[in-house]
Amino acid sequence: MNFEQYYSTTPYRQILWNRLGDREILDVFHRLRVPRNLSILSLGCGTGQKDLACVKAGYRIFGTDISPTAIATAKLLARKSGLPPQFGIMDSTRIRLGVLPRAWRQPNMVVDWQSLHNMPKILHRGYRRTIECLRPRWILVRTFSATDQECRRTGRRTLGSTISGIRRHFFSLEDLQKIYRAYVPVSVWEDPGYYHKRFLDGRATTKLTVLFLRRDQIFG
Ligand SMILES: C[S@@+](CC[C@H](N)C(=O)[O-])C[C@H]1O[C@@H](n2cnc3c(N)ncnc32)[C@H](O)[C@@H]1O
Repeated sequence: MNFEQYYSTTPYRQILWNRLGDREILDVFHRLRVPRNLSILSLGCGTGQKDLACVKAGYRIFGTDISPTAIATAKLLARKSGLPPQFGIMDSTRIRLGVLPRAWRQPNMVVDWQSLHNMPKILHRGYRRTIECLRPRWILVRTFSATDQECRRTGRRTLGSTISGIRRHFFSLEDLQKIYRAYVPVSVWEDPGYYHKRFLDGRATTKLTVLFLRRDQIFG
């Protein structure tokens, strides 16, 4: 199953990550004191549930996703709520700056809310190029994670959901450091556990980690 297929066959409310709601991302934004005047680019935004909640709260977000169906839904929901339909179709591993309005071509911040962990290693180079091209000052990532040691112990680096059939990849902090190599973590914390307990059946090998990173290097 791929995401496009999933979005075109699953009603909005039943989409696994939409069932998690938008409270957590707003809490994280508040906790990090994200200023409302930053231009924020969201990678892998899906149907835009979290992005629209942030726009309603006064943040300036443009959402992108590889799935045309998800982006069409996001635009429709924006219009229905009287919000600007700030969404575009884009593969995060092959950046197309033309898709982005001028204000988001050099965003202040990139948000990747549980999208990166859907990418197998072979796509990491393209994703890294996207980050290097966008050069945001800040990156906020929420991803499945497990230490290399845990992966070796359990012999697992991926998780296939029984609900969506979509495979997730676990990242160690070392993996993440390779991807976001020009960035340093300024804040790292684990998800309170709701998702973990509910969907991973309490297995101890993985967790959801939220990372907030700051650009540390001048890009060449
Ligand atoms: C688990 S969903 C998360 C959606 C949304 N961020 C949320 O939390 O509600 C992962 C999203 O990543 C998107 N995605 C996966 N690979 C992608 C890629 N290469 N480029 C852009 N989006 C991608 C999928 O289409 C999907 O919408």
